[in-house]
Amino acid sequence: MILDPVRRLAWDVLQRAEQDENLDAALDAALASLQDERDRRFLAELVKGALRWRGRYDHLIQRFSRRDAVTPPEVADVLRLGLHQLLGMDRVPDHAAVHQSVALARDVAGPWPAPFVNGLLQSVRRAVGDAPSPLDALRPLFPDPARDPDGWLAAWWSHPRWLVARWRARYGLEATAELCRRNNLPPPLAVHVLAPADPHEVAARLAAAGRHARPGELYPRALLLESEERAALAALLQERPELIVQDEAVQAACDLLLDGVAGPALDLCAAPGGKTARLRAALGAGELLVAADLSARRLRKLLAAAKRIDAGPDLVVSADGRAAPFRAGSFATVLLDGPCTGTGVLRRHPEGRWRLRPESVAGSADRLTELARQAVGLLRPGGRLLYATCSLEPEENEDVLHTILAADPSLAPCPWHANGEWARTWLPQREGADGFFAARLYRQGEAS
Ligand SMILES: C[S@@+](CC[C@H](N)C(=O)[O-])C[C@H]1O[C@@H](n2cnc3c(N)ncnc32)[C@H](O)[C@@H]1O
Repeated sequence: MILDPVRRLAWDVLQRAEQDENLDAALDAALASLQDERDRRFLAELVKGALRWRGRYDHLIQRFSRRDAVTPPEVADVLRLGLHQLLGMDRVPDHAAVHQSVALARDVAGPWPAPFVNGLLQSVRRAVGDAPSPLDALRPLFPDPARDPDGWLAAWWSHPRWLVARWRARYGLEATAELCRRNNLPPPLAVHVLAPADPHEVAARLAAAGRHARPGELYPRALLLESEERAALAALLQERPELIVQDEAVQAACDLLLDGVAGPALDLCAAPGGKTARLRAALGAGELLVAADLSARRLRKLLAAAKRIDAGPDLVVSADGRAAPFRAGSFATVLLDGPCTGTGVLRRHPEGRWRLRPESVAGSADRLTELARQAVGLLRPGGRLLYATCSLEPEENEDVLHTILAADPSLAPCPWHANGEWARTWLPQREGADGFFAARLYRQGEAS
């Protein structure tokens, strides 16, 4: 059988992602090498499906494997791709999924794994038989949620066990299952319509150009579109400078954070610049906005985005926020949307959950606490710290704020609501959008 080059490309991308390469970049490069749109869709679905459902497929590999040895990563990726074609894609005939997987195994690992791959996939096929829903037929092979809830969440809903154990302790079994289920759905493309453009008019213009845009549910300036290949998305954004890509929950959070915002303002971890754009729009005319980030490469994206929407920061600085080159007490606003574990946005990064380790949370919390301390030092009396993460973990959210509040008596919560609310978490299983955390603090004292 001749090996299908698209399946081979999918395997290459998975292997690159395994080596911690940027998945988007690896997938974009592979997509760019394909002319046919159906091939490109097939490639993206193979890669993302195999990554999303990796925990479920690895459980099946373990159940059906008759080998004692650990399956080497290059063969595991062949099997994950094969299982995704058998169980997660309607249009691939079973025989093609199996034969192509055997050919792929031979191509990437030589002759030895071919019989193993063939035997394992044939056994899965036999176990499914003529069942109308292949997955239902395999359910009894997974842990029983009543006896081993974390094992069930990890294997059936395809997440690391340590992570679901954390979430289950916090949210309970049902809500954690719902969170995991949502993390496995392809997310919509959410865009923010910059004022003064009218979201209804923009939606109508997009519809006239053949793109269905529905209104967001959390924020009136949010539109939700079908997910796009990144090349098509870049073209859309070039045509529509009034749009920026931003999840609904983030849009709602920016609305609360930026209420009454004043300059001079610093965005300390600014790239690629989604929130810088919102900050720019919220500041009064002529108020200074500085954007800083550790990554010069990501700052180039911020500059390109600012050029596209024709609004950007007054100054862009490549700097480590833990030693930022600004005088203490210089800013009326410091936005800290720092580097976090990203456990709220796993639906957008199918590889992300497999890269996290239990110790990632504490490492990230320490980094964020250090950045928050520095951010606070840059605030003038009367100034506000706007704190945000796309993590669901309290260590990176409330705990960071409690640490800096305890260390500095001049800081106080800065409510955005008359009811005193100054911190909020958006949960994927509750709001249906990305997970996000936002909070505001205020440095007491007279503004000079
Ligand atoms: C969550 S992203 C920021 C997203 C951005 N605020 C937006 O809305 O587009 C976190 C950013 O922190 C930057 N970063 C990581 N460590 C940093 C540090 N020590 N100082 C400054 N920036 C840092 C990363 O390069 C990354 O761009």
